[in-house]
Amino acid sequence: MFKVMKTLLQVENLSVNVGSTCIIRGLNLSVDKGEVILLLGPNGSGKSTFLHALIGDPRYRISSGRIIFDGIDVSSMPMTDRVKLGLSLGLQFPPRIKGITLRFLAERILERRGVTSSVISSVIEGYSRMLNLGGLLDKDLYVGFSGGEIKRAELMITLIQAPKLLMLDEPDSGVDVENLALVGSAISKYLSEDVGRSAIIITHTGYIARYVKATKAYVMVNGRIVCRGDPEILVSNILEHGFEKCFRCEGMI
Ligand SMILES: Nc1ncnc2c1ncn2[C@@H]1O[C@H](COP(=O)(O)OP(=O)(O)OP(=O)(O)O)[C@@H](O)[C@H]1O
Ligand SMILES: [Mg+2]
Repeated sequence: MFKVMKTLLQVENLSVNVGSTCIIRGLNLSVDKGEVILLLGPNGSGKSTFLHALIGDPRYRISSGRIIFDGIDVSSMPMTDRVKLGLSLGLQFPPRIKGITLRFLAERILERRGVTSSVISSVIEGYSRMLNLGGLLDKDLYVGFSGGEIKRAELMITLIQAPKLLMLDEPDSGVDVENLALVGSAISKYLSEDVGRSAIIITHTGYIARYVKATKAYVMVNGRIVCRGDPEILVSNILEHGFEKCFRCEGMI
């Protein structure tokens, strides 16, 4: 009889360096299938670094520990192989790329996934409607996009990769109220299409949790997880008191 694995991601004692500086320091975290994790923490605490290390960005060097994804040790696997396995990251600050339009990139990703060419344009149109991207599809990638437009376009690029673990770095930063509802419902719809899909979402405000049901929240301070708990309680405590209590707790878990 097959044993169905409950854990999608297991991060064990992970330390990550940028250059010679250690940013992530002995981090342990696991994500079950179907879980939606909020990751909070002060500026510069290492949240983006953590997600870059998970996706395999070579600028972020793992100095110790390991990353097990869907039962496979991906710690030294190149980024492209991790994406094929089902990890995808929507960046906090995606690079502007001249000469490549949003539509072109979306088409290539869908082709790589083996989506039938006759279906590709309707998938793109569907996301374009859902995320209000109409006028942006034929523009060079993120060139001249507003802050909120970048977030919505980056979300489409991340979702069409069809990840098992959707990682989003501040999808709610700089997004206005109406567009936040679009972003939230696109994420929610994506996750609800398959009960095994999971997410790690970095947020400073927790606004995204008004639309996406989070199962757990973690707080990172100085490259360590210092607190975990119910997302609603943690977010409201942080919004009210800041990270003062988290600093005092540092290293407790
Ligand atoms: N590519 C890089 N090159 C040099 N330093 C980096 C790089 N990436 C991260 N750092 C440094 O690592 C530390 C953690 O940065 P990181 O971007 O992970 O923080 P963060 O928690 O995501 O912050 P924010 O909430 O401001 O986005 C910072 O001191 C930052 O300057
Ligand atoms: Mg960041």
